[in-house]
Amino acid sequence: MAPPRSCQLAALLVICACTVAPLAPAAAASVPITTCRSFCGNIMVDYPFALHPGCGHAGLRDLLFCINGALMLHLPSGSYRVLDVDYAYRGLTLHDPAMSDCRALDRTPGGRGNGFVLEPWREPYLSPDPDNVFLLLGCRATSPLFQGFPDRHLPCRNVSGMGCGDFLACPAWDDYYAGGRRPPGDDAAYGDAVGTGAPPECCAVPWAAIRAVNVSRLECEGYSSAYSLAPVRAAGGAAGWAYGIRASWSLPESNRGFCGACRATGGACGHDMESHADLCLCGDWNSTSNCDSSADAAPSGAAARSPDAVAAVRWAVLASGCLPVHFWCRIDITVVARLEIKLVVDCGFPF
Ligand SMILES: *[C@@H]1O[C@H](CO)[C@@H](O)[C@H](O)[C@H]1NC(C)=O
Ligand SMILES: *[C@@H]1O[C@H](CO)[C@@H](O)[C@H](O)[C@H]1NC(C)=O
Ligand SMILES: *[C@@H]1O[C@H](CO)[C@@H](O)[C@H](O)[C@H]1NC(C)=O
Repeated sequence: MAPPRSCQLAALLVICACTVAPLAPAAAASVPITTCRSFCGNIMVDYPFALHPGCGHAGLRDLLFCINGALMLHLPSGSYRVLDVDYAYRGLTLHDPAMSDCRALDRTPGGRGNGFVLEPWREPYLSPDPDNVFLLLGCRATSPLFQGFPDRHLPCRNVSGMGCGDFLACPAWDDYYAGGRRPPGDDAAYGDAVGTGAPPECCAVPWAAIRAVNVSRLECEGYSSAYSLAPVRAAGGAAGWAYGIRASWSLPESNRGFCGACRATGGACGHDMESHADLCLCGDWNSTSNCDSSADAAPSGAAARSPDAVAAVRWAVLASGCLPVHFWCRIDITVVARLEIKLVVDCGFPF
């Protein structure tokens, strides 16, 4: 006897449910790689960074944005173009259009708002490299930079062989001093000029000395930043430096194990958008550990999802008016959920 058409439909629904819906969180996930990884222009954005909310590490949330194909990093001090993300060395190379370099100075009496200032909660996760030099330009004598040092000993120094001595020899200063200003002497670079009452034209510091480059708070007119990737001195002095900001990120040690286990079980590493705790994204549910541990399902819509799917199938089967099939199907759903999708083949009907 051929079963009614509605039964065939119900059977089809059951098979579809068996095949498509992961009926229980216990089934290991295989989250598409594109869930959290993406590209902006030709730069890959991957963990711990992300362009999607909830992806990436919480310490680096709300940081990168893809704007007209340009990857931008947003901080309280401004927006920086991301030129490179080096996942092997955990390094970011940033460019600030408002910074001076060897060819052109960008100075205004009030100081441009830029520099480099991080949100306090982000500081453990992101910071400029120790061999990145910040060159503060035209700071006033009253600048916090020059206060509080015993015997007026200035914080200005060379960083990784880069300092104001070389920077003041840049062609950018030719135009500046062509305007009738006093050309900097050798002293200007290290503040020996303080004896004369004048602050140094330029003061080079590493990030660790100030931990926030707020150009206006430091009462400066501008800044520059350069980094060296090789321990050799660049030929040609400051003209040969790489201008920009080199920053690196670091994550808590515990994150490595968490993320490794999450990925190994087919998940994508992310974070809870409210608590900011690590979260393993397992497709249609989230885990506080990994996609093999249904006991660690994060409380959210996820838990209700699977029972919903089963209920929908039951309803469909009941509605089709073939009760014997209903009973048989229910048992089968359980079997499929515990074992593997391979069983779907046996999840047929006798017609
Ligand atoms: C899982 O977490 C992500 C990121 O926090 C969130 O966008 C998503 O809605 C969550 N999924 C479920 C099923 O709760
Ligand atoms: C920089 O300093 C100024 C003046 O102290 C302050 O108003 C501003 O909020 C600071 N900017 C940042 C990004 O911290
Ligand atoms: C900084 O570097 C310049 C150029 O290499 C060098 O001439 C100068 O003596 C250095 N200054 C300090 C204070 O180390």
